[in-house]
Amino acid sequence: MPTLRNFFSLGLWCATAIVAQVNAQAIRPVSDTAPFYREQYRPQFHFTSPRNWINDPNGLVYYKGEYHLFYQHNPFGNKWGHMSWGHAVSRDLLHWQHLPVAIPEDTAGFMIFSGTVVVDSDNTSGLSESKNPGDKSCLVAVYTAHFGGEKPQKQHAAYSNDRGRTWTQYAGNPVLDVGKKDFRDPKIFRHDNRWIMVLALPTEHKVSFYGSADLLRWEHLSDFGPEGKSDEIWECPDLYPLPVTVDNASVKKWVLQLSTQSSMQYFVGDFDGKTFTNDNPKDKILRLDDGPDMYAAITFNNPPDNRRISLGWMNSWQYPDGPTFPWSGAMTVPRTHTLQSFPEGIRLIQKPIVELNALRTNLLSVKNTTLAQANRLIQKQRVRSKTMEVSVELEPGSAAETGLLVRKGQAEETRIGYQTADSTLFVDRTQSGDVGFNPKFSGRYSTKLAPVNGRIKLRILVDWSSVEVFGNDGLKALTCLVFPQPSSDGLELYADKNDVKVLSLDIQELRPVWKPNGKPAASGKKPRAK
Ligand code: FRU
Repeated sequence: MPTLRNFFSLGLWCATAIVAQVNAQAIRPVSDTAPFYREQYRPQFHFTSPRNWINDPNGLVYYKGEYHLFYQHNPFGNKWGHMSWGHAVSRDLLHWQHLPVAIPEDTAGFMIFSGTVVVDSDNTSGLSESKNPGDKSCLVAVYTAHFGGEKPQKQHAAYSNDRGRTWTQYAGNPVLDVGKKDFRDPKIFRHDNRWIMVLALPTEHKVSFYGSADLLRWEHLSDFGPEGKSDEIWECPDLYPLPVTVDNASVKKWVLQLSTQSSMQYFVGDFDGKTFTNDNPKDKILRLDDGPDMYAAITFNNPPDNRRISLGWMNSWQYPDGPTFPWSGAMTVPRTHTLQSFPEGIRLIQKPIVELNALRTNLLSVKNTTLAQANRLIQKQRVRSKTMEVSVELEPGSAAETGLLVRKGQAEETRIGYQTADSTLFVDRTQSGDVGFNPKFSGRYSTKLAPVNGRIKLRILVDWSSVEVFGNDGLKALTCLVFPQPSSDGLELYADKNDVKVLSLDIQELRPVWKPNGKPAASGKKPRAK
């Protein structure tokens, strides 16, 4: 949507300056009909802002015991605009404490578009104010300053010396300006004793790599692209190494992932500190998620363990304004990324973070049974919920199609199905509830998933307005928004033949991470006091 959005932002500056107070997002209920964070469609174990619009996750970083989630945010309304960086912190990536807007729009000049935060441990930038010889660190953010219209997008820096609570704009901004109108979404990481920045040239379907010793002066290293899917604009790139076992040997491979307007893709290859080379043919497209609602995902910098954890925006520029109020937009469940080698090549594996297990209450676990018997147990034990995690291993037998119906009600359901003839896993949300708010919303989304020993494994996360499906231990992911009635909380397995074997079925209810006042629910470890 860049054109529409540019037009919108231009309009903003022409209009009278809106001198609204950034109200630090005081947690205060706004709805008379339901407690805060229990409104219809409000995600219960996903991140949402208390109120107003969000899009991309920004500046994901771990620092001094806290995960920081900054995010594209309009502090003043439920639609895109006034882009600023919202902020929340967490100790477990699930229970988030909302903090005041971290970097507000510069009302006189530019919006704060997507970007990155790094821990400058050695004070390479000279921006640390620490008097502690044992800890010279500070946080440095580099984001895209969006001036609107035909003006170039520039990369600006800001820094924080109080664990991300307050931010100061770097006096020497911009830190990178090449005079291009579309030049955005920097992600920075440390590599071989220098900083590497990767950022998008959206309309050229390229990413650029830059190097720096101090985060403030940048030297162009190389460009990559167009390759893979390049018929739509490229945004929000990320580059990171992961170990992978190939022919019994552990090797390091680099993943370059990016967003392409309506989906995300990734490349697997090598990075020599200057140039990224793709292992696959130029026209090979590897999709990060085959659902419609996973966008702008990036990974955390400086994680406390060896995990590579990502978060994405669970929405789409095809129909950004859904039927939710007083918030708009949610993040996906945090996912770990790993690589695995297959005969067809190295592939990215995504799994929900293990921290999610702490939210579980077991509803039903059964092994080696039939589909009919599994359904009888679901009925008998009244297994129903609007927040569920379902893990199932199925042997389709002679069935042409089998699967599950989730968020099932009298007249609606979301169908997660598997077609054996063409090994296709799909999510069909055409009957999922409110699909009429945008003509582009209703649909069926599919991906190829080969059975392993005649079996398929599904792990499904269901929340009040989303379904995330992980096929065969995270080899495929499908993320879909759904807007069912609150009473549609049923679950059913289905097949067109009765010899489907249910090798295992495990149904968990997931507890809310939010109290009905918008604060993190008690089971989360509290972020440290200042
Ligand atoms: C991706 C994106 C980014 C941009 C931001 C603006 O969703 O278009 O390229 O920085 O959103 O909100």
